Amino acid sequence: MNVETLITGITQVVSAQGLGPRRGVAMSDIVCLENAALAIDQARFVWVGRAEDWHGQAASVVDLGGRAVVPGLVDPHTHAVWAGDRLADFALRTSGSSYEEILAGGGGIRSTIGATQSATQEELVALALPRLLALMESGATVIEVKSGYGFTPSAEIKMLEAIRQLQAKLPARLVPTLLIHIPPPEAHKRLSYLDQITSELIPEVANTALASAVDIFVDREAWQADEAERVLSCALLNGLGIKMHAEQFHSVGGLELALELGALSVDHLEVCRPDQYPQLAASNTIATLLPGVSLHLGIPSAPGRGLIDAGASVAVGTDLNPGSSPLFSISAALALAVRLNGLSAEEALVAGTVNAAAALGLENAGRIEAGLPADFVVLKGRDWRELVYLLGANPVEDVWIAGSKART
Ligand code: NIG
Ligand code: FE
Repeated sequence: MNVETLITGITQVVSAQGLGPRRGVAMSDIVCLENAALAIDQARFVWVGRAEDWHGQAASVVDLGGRAVVPGLVDPHTHAVWAGDRLADFALRTSGSSYEEILAGGGGIRSTIGATQSATQEELVALALPRLLALMESGATVIEVKSGYGFTPSAEIKMLEAIRQLQAKLPARLVPTLLIHIPPPEAHKRLSYLDQITSELIPEVANTALASAVDIFVDREAWQADEAERVLSCALLNGLGIKMHAEQFHSVGGLELALELGALSVDHLEVCRPDQYPQLAASNTIATLLPGVSLHLGIPSAPGRGLIDAGASVAVGTDLNPGSSPLFSISAALALAVRLNGLSAEEALVAGTVNAAAALGLENAGRIEAGLPADFVVLKGRDWRELVYLLGANPVEDVWIAGSKART
């Protein structure tokens, strides 16, 4: 076999095998190949095996000098585009106010909406670019990015256009999601706002392919299940995938609705109850955990251990946003999931690769396998478990995307 690039000097190549989600397969079922090599041609892996079994020719050989390699990480949940900051909220919270009280009082997400509406598209791009580069430096090769701080249809479109512009500047694959974040503060305007979202915004986003899915925040201080049903049914009719911020602070029927409608993922789940685990386990929906939120807001951690033991497919994301999770590292999110959500290192790797890809409806990301895009992470260490062991030091040496080392 003649290939463009051969990667050698790999102590371990570690990856889930087969398509996600890992239904019927233990989430800890990963393959670790020692003294390995990877052959890459035309941006894809063409051969993966033990170095001693490689007998082909390569135009260029890259020796990693004894490092572990894992698949390109997938961050399945970010709000990386925003303007302004939430330092005033942070100060309020450290002096005793809760996230929900601040939101109910007109601050929180609403203050970020104000700042984001005032920013130009170019300003939003300039603000988001270093955040996405930080996620890449932490190992992300695929990153979901939500709108949701625009609120008006035109400002939501501005955010999605900014994400499209960011894609042209970055080697990582961005997956854009339209987020219907919070209702108008005046109760009597909720219905007409939803009319506008379903009759104008969602069809326009579908026609222009500005997003591949629609997400909605369902909670006591946000949208209710009947309202979410209108939004998500409209998304499905328009050929878009659906996702939900569910069971973050209160259980108000969001999870059940998301499962009934066949959501790609339900995200948060901090207050998910044991009687809900089997429902998730029986579905095709991924349970996405966001441990940065529990750490930053001091709220309960989602029951990752219970969900996995019940047979659910679990993913992990950063939820990078200014209010509930200023966490700029997907490897740190995985490290937190081990501490806060009870995942093993192996489960965290599956959660941050193949299952996170499944949460985005992607089957061609998150694995090191012949035929798939050559996205992978070179760790600094010889043992891949450093990925989820280190806290506060970046375990990532280099990120390769589509067969080339990414400059970050
Ligand atoms: O995923 N809970 C709703 N939305 C975001 C937070 C957004 C914000 O606080 O700005 C979340 O936690
Ligand atoms: Fe979120």
